[in-house]
Amino acid sequence: KDYQHILTSRFESKDPEKPASLGVGLIELNQPKSLNSLSDALFEDLIDAARVFDKQEDIGSIVITGKGKAFAAGADIPEMSTKSFAEAYNSNMFSQWAEFKISKPIIAAVNGFALGGGCELAMMCDIVIASPNAKFGQPEVNLGIIPGAGGTQRLIRAVGKSKAMQMILTGEMITAEQAERDGLISKVVESREVLLEEALKIGYAIGEKGPIAIRMAKECVNAAEEMNLEQGLQFERRNFHALFATSDQKEGMGAFLDKRTPVWKNE
Ligand code: HXC
Repeated sequence: KDYQHILTSRFESKDPEKPASLGVGLIELNQPKSLNSLSDALFEDLIDAARVFDKQEDIGSIVITGKGKAFAAGADIPEMSTKSFAEAYNSNMFSQWAEFKISKPIIAAVNGFALGGGCELAMMCDIVIASPNAKFGQPEVNLGIIPGAGGTQRLIRAVGKSKAMQMILTGEMITAEQAERDGLISKVVESREVLLEEALKIGYAIGEKGPIAIRMAKECVNAAEEMNLEQGLQFERRNFHALFATSDQKEGMGAFLDKRTPVWKNE
């Protein structure tokens, strides 16, 4: 499909020792002139492309990154600047972000600024890695607004109250290194040049596993943010039981016992 604001492509592992059975879908935010500001039109492309990859059986995970010097510098300021309360309220502005529900793992490869909605987008992904030059922040208060796509909710879960408050109330950015220390991201890669490669490596590692188990694991981890411990443990255990109804479980354990590589069927 021809998108106006993003680029999409797909990658397959070329490692002969570890042939991942599933490929990785790549989405590159491609409005570098406005630092990939997240206009409604860009977000529409993004959600559409993610849904398309989610449906493709030979894709195991999705990587999102940005072209140019930003991952995304936030919602599009010109687009928002003249909106009235009634317009924002009546259109339920940014409610489409809550529709970003994708069953396959999404890796954010943060290549530069991840600010406002850009930081929120990264936090909506499942794994976040970043290049050393990346910067994270929720600068909305500089504009007389607050985060509007989960920043006040997800940041506190990621880094705790004091750090979340400091970022949200001062609007100050943190470095990639600080973001890793704070637990906002899982890794700072060595350089900008290897960022995509590293993200794809994670994607290939995921693509070697049983796809039903991968999607179920994501669902269970995400459930931890919604459920209390008792419910979460029950949800996990029931899903665990359900996997014994899949042929991939028989294949995975059978392959281990036969000392061979499993061949997944996604069933
Ligand atoms: C639209 C943006 C933009 C944005 C940058 N640009 N951020 N356009 N929306 N969010 C544009 C600039 O206007 C400029 O356009 C071009 O990108 C390059 O940016 P510069 O400012 O010249 O670059 P630099 O000096 O390097 O500064 C980078 C920056 C700064 C620190 C990231 O651009 C900045 O502070 N941007 C705003 C970040 C922000 O406030 N984000 C939160 C938005 S609110 P021209 O035409 O002049 O070259 C938000 C709410 C979330 O996200 C709600 C839920 C989605």
